[in-house]
Amino acid sequence: MSRPTLVAGNWKMHGSLAANLSLLTALRAGVTPALKPQVAVCVPTPYLAQVQSVLAGSPIAWGAQDVSEHAQGAYTGEISAGMLQDFGCRYTLVGHSERRAYHHETDAQVAAKAEAALKIGLTPILCVGETLEEREADATTQVVTRQLDAIIARLGAAGLSKSVIAYEPVWAIGTGKTATPQQAQAVHAMIRACIAQVDGTVADRLQILYGGSMKPANAKELMGQPDIDGGLIGGAALVATDFLAICNNA
Ligand code: 13P
Repeated sequence: MSRPTLVAGNWKMHGSLAANLSLLTALRAGVTPALKPQVAVCVPTPYLAQVQSVLAGSPIAWGAQDVSEHAQGAYTGEISAGMLQDFGCRYTLVGHSERRAYHHETDAQVAAKAEAALKIGLTPILCVGETLEEREADATTQVVTRQLDAIIARLGAAGLSKSVIAYEPVWAIGTGKTATPQQAQAVHAMIRACIAQVDGTVADRLQILYGGSMKPANAKELMGQPDIDGGLIGGAALVATDFLAICNNA
């Protein structure tokens, strides 16, 4: 089955009003409705209003990098899904490995965040992936399955049908060390098989993105794999020509 390709940028904690304006202006000029993939940028929350104003009416969607599991309340510093929706977000990343590692987000919390996003109508981009230590211990399948199981238990087939999954091997993030297309494809196929045990149609339609040092030079081959439906791009999403080149290679 052919699924639409999605190329999403994760700006992480980068940007300024001035730098964003030049990046967004270049993206807006370069991403035409004729471009094949769906395109999105996930930006630091304080810049959502700027991104909304620059990208409104363009084919580029936008989103956040995290969302609270709570709808509202005494949770200082947290941002709710409803707040993201107020700024026109279509997506939010959930469970990025940097959140899991530095903010100790658990599998259960990641699933709760995804549910909160879905409740408001946002599409969660659910990040999973193993560390180098786990890969070297041959635990990739076990770790990714554990991360997925928590999501499946909470969201079920209905929630998964409105979600995107991103496989991001932690050892490939920001390291310049990309998973080979074969390594990535193997995990993507495993993820799809795991979802197929819940619902075959949902699994067939699910967009599974690859993330980890994707750049113009390797994007085509990675996204050419049968179970890789796009990319979640970190560093290269900050350089308009690189991000656009990846979009054009999708
Ligand atoms: P890099 O593309 O910089 O490796 O980052 C990948 C990533 O973490 C995207 O979410």
